[in-house]
Amino acid sequence: MAKLTVRDLEVSGKRVFMRVDYNVPMEEKDGRMVINDSTRIKETLPTLKFLTDQGARLILAAHLGRPDGKCEPSLSLRPVAEKLGELFGKSVKFVDECVGEKAEAAANGLKDGEILLLENVRFHAEEEENEAVFAAKLARLADLYVNDAFGAAHRAHASTCGVARIISAWGGRCAAGLLMERELKFLGDELDNPARPFAVILGGAKVSDKIKVIDRLLEKADVVLIGGAMAYTFKLAHGHKTGKSLVEPEHLQTALDAEVKAKARGVKFLLPSDNIIAELQDTGKLNKKGKPVWAPINPRVNTAADIPADCEGFDIGPATAATYALVLANSKTILWNGPMGMFEDPRFAEGTVAVAKAVAEATAQGAKSIIGGGDSVKAINKANLGNQVTFMSTGGGASLEFLEGTPLPGVTCLDEK
Ligand code: 3PG
Repeated sequence: MAKLTVRDLEVSGKRVFMRVDYNVPMEEKDGRMVINDSTRIKETLPTLKFLTDQGARLILAAHLGRPDGKCEPSLSLRPVAEKLGELFGKSVKFVDECVGEKAEAAANGLKDGEILLLENVRFHAEEEENEAVFAAKLARLADLYVNDAFGAAHRAHASTCGVARIISAWGGRCAAGLLMERELKFLGDELDNPARPFAVILGGAKVSDKIKVIDRLLEKADVVLIGGAMAYTFKLAHGHKTGKSLVEPEHLQTALDAEVKAKARGVKFLLPSDNIIAELQDTGKLNKKGKPVWAPINPRVNTAADIPADCEGFDIGPATAATYALVLANSKTILWNGPMGMFEDPRFAEGTVAVAKAVAEATAQGAKSIIGGGDSVKAINKANLGNQVTFMSTGGGASLEFLEGTPLPGVTCLDEK
């Protein structure tokens, strides 16, 4: 059943508690915290406009970082309120608390169409504990609940679901925002009934992180393209040498089982036929854990099935990239989760960039392309192709759990239509 959305609410003159995911990357510059990437803020603007145009009094709640229940000034949301005001073109009020008298006075003082951002909900330990009294304090601020924080919807916290249950018990309605609605549509409905052929590109470090997604998508996909370090666990499972590559020896059977399942379902399951490898050189430096830091040197293409003992695999090779591009050119639906290699280093970014270009080209030819959040979004943006794909999720862990088929607490707490 579909969830209620903001389109179904009567909001004029009402106080609307809206959970957003403003967990944005920040860094300190000249003694001030500066936002490095405002994508998550921008993506909520349509919901903010929709609600304020109808005279809602908006109370925004969000978390920033992991302050562990303590007030941590560098994780204050105040700079986010400024940025939001700039992007929205209208001033946004800010209150340095999220519960209690001060927060209530600020919420009750709002006029129709005004926006208030509360201070970081994670400054209170009760937020992550989903503690009922704290959730009730949040609920006192509002008449209605909207969740537009897809990226935090996998967390069962007070502001992501506890408060909704209380507002609902007090007779208020709980709905999805427009961003949440889009995320559920593209990562959910569109993939349930994909136009075919449906290609799934999966990368990232570990088979164990992605196995539930692989399992679930094998029910839907026509072809699965594997990249990233997890490909080396498949290589090892096939009896090849993987040198110093990142592998999970305890998951060899998991990898083989996925291939057996793919075969049984008639899903093509492609593994890299070549890689970019490099030797590792001791830098003489130690990392934060006191372990030696190794730097890759002499990167080169490896077309042999084995990886030399002194080398590590860092990217898919050119032949693999070309094969994958051909598959993508013939696909009508594409889902991409996880980079093909260590794309942060330009020497190992070519595989990921080639796949990103192939996804963009397929999209231009009419395919629907869905980028499943996290590092794949970073990679697409780094290749400047963010505006050439159909949809990019704002979720990291949330997208992964949703694609695995795990119910998200921030979604299940919303009213059905
Ligand atoms: C994210 O950045 O993925 C979300 O905001 C969730 O943050 P968390 O992993 O700290 O709960």
